[in-house]
Amino acid sequence: MKQLDVSAIKDGSVIDHIDSKSTLKVADILNIQNEEQMVLVGINLTSKFLGKKGIIKIGGKIIDQKEVNKIALIAPDATVNIIKDYEVVKKFKVAVPDVIEGIVKCFNPNCVSNHHKITPKLHVINKNPIKLQCHYCERIMNSKDILLI
Ligand code: CTP
Repeated sequence: MKQLDVSAIKDGSVIDHIDSKSTLKVADILNIQNEEQMVLVGINLTSKFLGKKGIIKIGGKIIDQKEVNKIALIAPDATVNIIKDYEVVKKFKVAVPDVIEGIVKCFNPNCVSNHHKITPKLHVINKNPIKLQCHYCERIMNSKDILLI
């Protein structure tokens, strides 16, 4: 029988194959402190693909597309599993979209998008490793520059 490092959940979302070091950043995106149901977080678990991985399980919650898009920027190898009645009913890998709107702030303090009521817009010029370019000031950002809104 398969042994689980972190116990199975009945209903909810499992974010698996997170790069261990990014696990708590993903937890922040999902705002787990404000959850009312069970949340399980595992870091440095053994993984076939990544060597070590992080995992987050949130009881009773189906994560939404905006959260998935944010997670993709921080943990590009993550897999999302939706669980119903102990079964995995949906499984997909996160994907970085071609254009990111209203999720990431431009890193350039002088950019017009940081001074007016403009929704930030960034073009994804490389997905892994992530590289973004601001639509307004054309500043290029790497993963270390990403400021999630
Ligand atoms: N899981 C869970 N509760 C369940 C069912 C599954 O927490 N009731 C978790 C498992 O622990 C695993 C993930 O959801 O982390 C995906 O489950 P499953 O597809 O059964 O595992 P694997 O085959 O190992 O997935 P993958 O191929 O994506 O590595």
